[in-house]
Amino acid sequence: MNMACGSNDLTTDICWQALSTHAEALKPRHLKDLMADGGRFQSLSFRHEGLLLDLSRQRIVPETLERLMSLAQASELPEWIAALFAGEPVNDTEKRPALHSALRLPESASLQLEGQDLVPEVHANLARMAEMVAQLHQRQWRGYTGEPIDTVVNIGVGGSDLGPVMACRALADFQPEAARGLSIHFVSSMDGSQLAGLLDRLNPATTLFIVSSKSFTTIDTLANAETARRWLADASGMADAVLVRRHFVAVTASPEKAAAWGVPEDNQLHFWDWTGGRYSLWSTIGFPIALKIGMENFRRMLAGAHGMDEHFRTAELGENLPVLMAMVGVWNINLLDYHAHAILPYDGRLAHLPAYLEQLEMESNGKSIRRDGSGSELRTCPVLWGEVGPNAQHAFYQLLHQGTEPVMSDFIVPVRRYEAQSETLQRQHQLALANCLAQARVLALGDAALDAEPPTPWQQYSGNQPSTVLLLDELSPATFGALIALYEHKVFVQSVIWGINPFDQWGVELGKKMATRMLEALGQADGDQGMDRPTAGLLGEIRRLRGC
Ligand code: F6P
Repeated sequence: MNMACGSNDLTTDICWQALSTHAEALKPRHLKDLMADGGRFQSLSFRHEGLLLDLSRQRIVPETLERLMSLAQASELPEWIAALFAGEPVNDTEKRPALHSALRLPESASLQLEGQDLVPEVHANLARMAEMVAQLHQRQWRGYTGEPIDTVVNIGVGGSDLGPVMACRALADFQPEAARGLSIHFVSSMDGSQLAGLLDRLNPATTLFIVSSKSFTTIDTLANAETARRWLADASGMADAVLVRRHFVAVTASPEKAAAWGVPEDNQLHFWDWTGGRYSLWSTIGFPIALKIGMENFRRMLAGAHGMDEHFRTAELGENLPVLMAMVGVWNINLLDYHAHAILPYDGRLAHLPAYLEQLEMESNGKSIRRDGSGSELRTCPVLWGEVGPNAQHAFYQLLHQGTEPVMSDFIVPVRRYEAQSETLQRQHQLALANCLAQARVLALGDAALDAEPPTPWQQYSGNQPSTVLLLDELSPATFGALIALYEHKVFVQSVIWGINPFDQWGVELGKKMATRMLEALGQADGDQGMDRPTAGLLGEIRRLRGC
């Protein structure tokens, strides 16, 4: 396997051509015809521990999966999976491995990287994080007045925000007693709007800021951190060094930059450059998660993800959930021409899953240049978006049901919920489950779902919109960990087929550089600062409105 090679000209591969012929034969068949097969659910649904992947509403037959698995073999997927887990430099443009799976290894495991076992280091960092969690839970961390910290604000953006926000919401039911006295907030946006509103309500004497940034150079995060620092100084009148020591923790892979900002070593938690930002919630970036759900549950989340890692690493391709999910995505995108993907959780606790997956999928695979530097002949990552399903039913489902855009969807729902709570709440979950299954069925079958003739053309549903249903036995730290690891590996598999590196993000750099120049231009009293006419026009208008 040549790391610098994309899968050269996949479309000329014999497996691809066979798949294309198969696709042409299958395209005219409507899902209502495919779904008439009685054995379909058995042959197209797959289990791993507390998770069921149901592909029976996809526009496939079992033979499609066989052909897709041949394509995966021809793309050397098993070799790529081995390279990923072995710590080979699969992030070739940045010349490093992508070892998020190492963050989930049990203490008894070992993984050598450049002659050093990573596992003891990973667990030492977890232990350090556990100490800080205990200090905060036991109200031993005190602010500048000596009062215990009771409020934590995580300042971070992208991967240093989305994973922790999502997990804290998803797993809030698992909050241990000791964590109840601590309120946790998240601030990400550079415009200060989240922070300004929050600071008005918080007590500086009892607030701790976690500055989460892998690089510790992200302007969004540093701008928010500066504002927080000034707020503390104004409120307390204390020396900066005292305030930073008592009120700031840095979580970073760049300790020297955090130290230069003023955060002492003792207040830092570290991780490594081989952890990609959008793959970092398993590292010390997960500090707010551990504060919310406790270390025991955090470790259960890691164990659930590790279980999925082991499944991905060892299961046959045709029974491997991330591989199946990814290859059906390739089928939809490249053979059936789907370019939009909706993420629809039927559980409010997963409200932030769509935003998390937007970064995971689109920042990873939203690329058109392959590993070998050539342009991709195939479409890569589709536009992906989503919303809590029941709410989305009252927003964009109209388009899913009757629009002109073909859309593939993922329905995600836990089976058991509220078992120890009221019957009315249990009925509400039953309602969500019923709606989830109903929508997946109507999307697939259209009018045929209710066997009723539509009275007018405007009431017609053509159906044939494919979807995957992911059933979780229940939403727990372990199943949540497995679910997120499932999507991570799905993204990796698709990157292998498309021959691209999913672990870099060069596409966001130009915008950052331009913003620096634009900031300078905005600071000038006049002149177009070398900008194009439309931009110069806006600069002039902004200056006029500001009265300068
Ligand atoms: O937007 C690009 C990006 O680098 C993401 O990949 C990353 O998650 C985010 O910015 C935040 O980066 P950092 O953790 O270094 O502040």
